Amino acid sequence: MVRINENYLKLKAGYLFPEIARRVKAFTDVNPDAPIIKLGIGDVTEPLPAACREAMQQAIVELGDRSTFRGYGPEQGYAWLREKIARYDFQMRGCEIDASEVFVSDGSKCDTGNILDIFGKDNAIAVFDPVYPVYVDTNVMAGHTGIADEGGKYGGLIYIPITAENDFTATIPERKVDLIYLCFPNNPTGAVATKEHLRAWVDYARTNDALILFDSAYEAFISDDSLPHSIYEIPGARHCAIEFRSFSKNAGFTGVRCAYAIVPKSLKAKVSDGTDVKIWALWNRRQSTKFNGVSYVVQRGAEAAYSEAGRQQIQALVGFYLENARIVREQLAAAGLSVYGGVHAPYIWIKTPDGMTSWDFFDKLLNKAYVVGTPGSGFGAAGEGYFRISAFNSRENVETAMQRVTEMFRVG
Ligand code: MLT
Repeated sequence: MVRINENYLKLKAGYLFPEIARRVKAFTDVNPDAPIIKLGIGDVTEPLPAACREAMQQAIVELGDRSTFRGYGPEQGYAWLREKIARYDFQMRGCEIDASEVFVSDGSKCDTGNILDIFGKDNAIAVFDPVYPVYVDTNVMAGHTGIADEGGKYGGLIYIPITAENDFTATIPERKVDLIYLCFPNNPTGAVATKEHLRAWVDYARTNDALILFDSAYEAFISDDSLPHSIYEIPGARHCAIEFRSFSKNAGFTGVRCAYAIVPKSLKAKVSDGTDVKIWALWNRRQSTKFNGVSYVVQRGAEAAYSEAGRQQIQALVGFYLENARIVREQLAAAGLSVYGGVHAPYIWIKTPDGMTSWDFFDKLLNKAYVVGTPGSGFGAAGEGYFRISAFNSRENVETAMQRVTEMFRVG
């Protein structure tokens, strides 16, 4: 009989978003005419930037001609895309990142999970609470944790609470950890990190020989340019951080699929015999064995995100969602809710009213306003009593949803 990876049995029921979809389906089966508006999963709704579409169309034409046809591409990504990424996203912001340190991939969710392939089982791993569930679940799958307690916390993981009481900025742990997941702008709270905050993490990581896994998938939403867009804006981060970026939330590639990881060549990890090994070399080996690269067509689309037109179109797209976020923030605050985030992020994090649990509030919003959000407790125990609203939707849907929610609070 085949044996399974029993770590999977430790996982809690369902991944958060499929669980929400299941509950919404159960509701619509009984109420087929309810005009549901989904502000739950952070999935984009607006069309792809024209520059990206045109580049992909052109790439398809090339693939239809023997002289310009391409088969397998480089596993790490085409050099013309990696060079643009290094230049526009890092070097132009003063970060010392080379194109050879860019690994193009099909998503940050995949990258943040896959990166665990190259790390051992005995690392002390810290995550925020609430947290993007992928960081936790992939560690469970990899056997890095014990079982979950009643509050849903897995043994062996170090949870760092972020709540309104600490202004959604995690306190640097007193104990030594080896791997730390940071996500800024933060999913789910919408909080953003200052340079001082990131500097404190980089100092901590360097003092403790720790590695930061920095997820900046929402970087494009930072609307104050004095805030850091990359961890590499902090001196020393090349020696203690891997950064994950995505084209999903800026260029709308959630369905197209393209992202990248920065793995600096200066990063080292310890072998049990005491010698050092380059993390870059391990990741390169992992990717060239298990991954065949992102399609040529998609990489051409991603490259166009850096053209003059592409950059303008992406700015407009991000601006559109940020305006949605402003509407949500202001309307919910006017309805009397405590509202956080949504200024440098597409997520608005609210305190549930009257001490309601996150799932009770989910049910109320679904039943009374036909609006779907994400229960804070789905992101971790410290998310209980909070609720996330995503700004990814059409203007009309966001406005209608907010009218319905405001009305729901008015009538009680
Ligand atoms: C979310 O809603 O948190 C996002 O969809 C996460 C993701 O991009 O995987």
